[in-house]
Amino acid sequence: MADPYKISLPENKIPTAWFNIVPFLPHPPAPPLHPVTQQPIGVADLAPLFCDAILAQETATAPEIEIPEPVREIYRLWRPTPLYRARRLERVLDTPAHIYYKYEGVSPAGSHKPNTAVAQAYYNKEAGIRRLTTETGAGQWGSALALAGAFFEIEVKVYMVRVSYEQKPYRRHLMETWGAHVVPSPSPHTEAGRRVLAEHPDSPGSLGLAISEAVEEAASRADTNYALGSVLNHVLLHQTVIGLEALEQFVLAGEGPDVLIACCGGGSNFAGFTFPFLPRKRAGESLRIIAVEPAACPTLTKGVYAYDFGDMARLSPLLKMYTLGHGFVPPGIHAGGLRYHGDAPLVSQLVHDGVVEAVAYAQRPVFAAAVTFARAEGIIPAPESAHAIKAAIDEALSCRESGEKKVIAFCLSGHGHFDMAAYERYLSGTLVDAEYSEAEVQRAISELPQVRT
Ligand SMILES: Cc1ncc(COP(=O)(O)O)c(C=O)c1O
Repeated sequence: MADPYKISLPENKIPTAWFNIVPFLPHPPAPPLHPVTQQPIGVADLAPLFCDAILAQETATAPEIEIPEPVREIYRLWRPTPLYRARRLERVLDTPAHIYYKYEGVSPAGSHKPNTAVAQAYYNKEAGIRRLTTETGAGQWGSALALAGAFFEIEVKVYMVRVSYEQKPYRRHLMETWGAHVVPSPSPHTEAGRRVLAEHPDSPGSLGLAISEAVEEAASRADTNYALGSVLNHVLLHQTVIGLEALEQFVLAGEGPDVLIACCGGGSNFAGFTFPFLPRKRAGESLRIIAVEPAACPTLTKGVYAYDFGDMARLSPLLKMYTLGHGFVPPGIHAGGLRYHGDAPLVSQLVHDGVVEAVAYAQRPVFAAAVTFARAEGIIPAPESAHAIKAAIDEALSCRESGEKKVIAFCLSGHGHFDMAAYERYLSGTLVDAEYSEAEVQRAISELPQVRT
């Protein structure tokens, strides 16, 4: 057969265990701290929000954690996902580089998010939980949890960041079709929401605030737990099915990556795609790993590495991470899933240790890359995923300059079928490169908690 475009694996190659990065880190992760006492947080502190199995994964140190069979069975609906060789894009860019992308948009919700949503819904169902609350930025995570709720007959309530709620009505209808209840955040349903509405009735919302609302509701009801779509260790763990499959697919491709790239909002697709490759890098293999974020919310490239709250209302544990300050409200860019003030502690630690690089791009060049990709490869990428495409294209163009034949691989975390309003704006020339306010960031950073460690 001619050189393949798609490297596919059979269903029996779905991983049987998730990959845990923790035992492979050069030093142990900084512990999450209690938001009030600032002491390392205990399992009992988090029990009102998460079930035991999930809490155990949050602190797990074993290198592998078995994937329960009912979760693998649901994964079979779309996994293993294809690894594509972007031969047509390579031709358009006239690059000697080989470009690959792992496409997570084939899941029913259209992104990588169901990899963890299904696992979280399963463990909560097993623990007798009837309801889950969550937040969603772009709507991808809310859709994924709505889908998982439908599979396991769990009621799902989604606090959707208002700017996305208004920009993406069809995402909302998707969630409602799977049976979820969706409200715009800030909402009048919670203390945190009411406080913001009183001061800023037109607030576009932020992920940090939507998290506060979902956590507040889950903490106040015994039948309800909270589910987070990114940032925490267990979420990153569940996403490693992406990289584990990619490792096998590169064996079939007959070559391995020199550069791995993924967009980074809270860090889950980035971690899921890249973490399984990290032991090779530690073993001395040359491998660059690049996290890509929006210039309008430049957490890894412009934030500080410090303990901060994961949410605006200071309800969450303090996490050691790159942060722009929990009070920072990023401008309303179209990559709503990348509008988060912080980043996963595990990803932050690797950036701080110099293992992972980070770059930031403004939204117009990102959309230009998305359109180049769509015209070459056909797939319309999610604006979040398009950040990874932009970085991959830049890497491929520098290979054209240098003549190097690098293997560049990126995670195409989702499709953009519900983001056509953003594409319309880009194509009609009305999209602007939303700027964040440096003064806003300085103010938010000045309000970081003083942690005595
Ligand atoms: C398609 C897509 N990619 C990436 C992200 C960013 O999240 P994370 O950094 O956790 O992968 C989101 C978040 O909503 C998303 O919808």
